[in-house]
Amino acid sequence: MAFETKPITPVPPAEIDFDNLGFTFIATEKMWVAEYAGGKWTTHGLVPIGEFWTHPAAGALHYGQALFEGAKARLNDAGEIVLFRIVDNARRMAEGCRRLMMPVYEEGEFVEAVNQTVLANKAYVPTDEQGALYIRPVMFASAPVLGVKPAEEYIFLVFVSPVGPYFKEGFSPIRLKISKEFHRAVAGGVGCVKAAGNYAAGMYPNSLAKADGYAEILYLDADNKHFEEVGAANFFLRKGEELATPSLDDKTILPGYTRDSVLQLASEEGLNVGARDVMLEELAGADECFCTGTAAVITPIGSVELDGAEITIGDGGVGKFSQIFYDQLNAIMLKEAEDKYGWVTTIGKK
Ligand code: PLP
Ligand code: COI
Repeated sequence: MAFETKPITPVPPAEIDFDNLGFTFIATEKMWVAEYAGGKWTTHGLVPIGEFWTHPAAGALHYGQALFEGAKARLNDAGEIVLFRIVDNARRMAEGCRRLMMPVYEEGEFVEAVNQTVLANKAYVPTDEQGALYIRPVMFASAPVLGVKPAEEYIFLVFVSPVGPYFKEGFSPIRLKISKEFHRAVAGGVGCVKAAGNYAAGMYPNSLAKADGYAEILYLDADNKHFEEVGAANFFLRKGEELATPSLDDKTILPGYTRDSVLQLASEEGLNVGARDVMLEELAGADECFCTGTAAVITPIGSVELDGAEITIGDGGVGKFSQIFYDQLNAIMLKEAEDKYGWVTTIGKK
């Protein structure tokens, strides 16, 4: 199969300011590419990072058949490059493929693609104090379509980029804005998969929140009754001994695996955990709120704007369990604490 890219010049690691990484794209040496055509995947494997030629009628451009994943490779003190729950990324992408009628890239191949891409770019893995190597698997429909139907050809790729914290505040409380005007997803829609279009839809409300000094939108369900999630992270609320997070039942929120990990750690801490409808009225009495995600890790929520009024959560600082889960998760991710659930894989040394 013909496969051509226009080269992108990688940024040499020596020219990167690793101590001041943001969450922006930095070109590294290699990416992984596979193409789907004729009903099967052909893996090209590692190739120099480059631009694709895109068909003007490509299905991804018109009808949004595009999905992505997010993961991080981190460097621990022993110099090992470690990944967290990478098989879950593969499974979630497969779920998304089924929902958007795209071909599944097999789980083992996905993991291999990620491992190889990270190792081929290991000179770009920052120290853990500096950040992480963010891993971005992507799939999109590359073949032409005109009627609304699944395309016949797709590209799967993995690129990586060194990143710092997602929220510029790092591990300190953020301010969020609740929107009653904009919604991220509805029951039965595609909120539960990482469809690229979900993020396009969030950009406008997010820009309004940012212009008002908020880090992100905290989304509600379409009836403005209960919480859903933060634009790119899941939401938790604790009152006393109960830790609640919106349930996945309506398929409106992304099943984050940081969320799932926190649910497991919270049970071990003896908290009463509940995945249920977390109602808007519960905010006022909350002891702490935080959000979770690969990019966001655990981010405490200091205050929330609702109907023009600012509600301070707890004392507005880092909540007790935000700190506990942040420390526990990081220790597991870096192999400094026991990994009883088998979440971590070591893929090599820097
Ligand atoms: N919700 C949305 C919409 C996201 O994009 C993400 C990030 O992937 C999350 C939640 C958190 O998911 P995870 O913890 O698997 O990164
Ligand atoms: C992640 O947490 O990895 C995500 O994919 C969120 C992203 C939109 C930055």
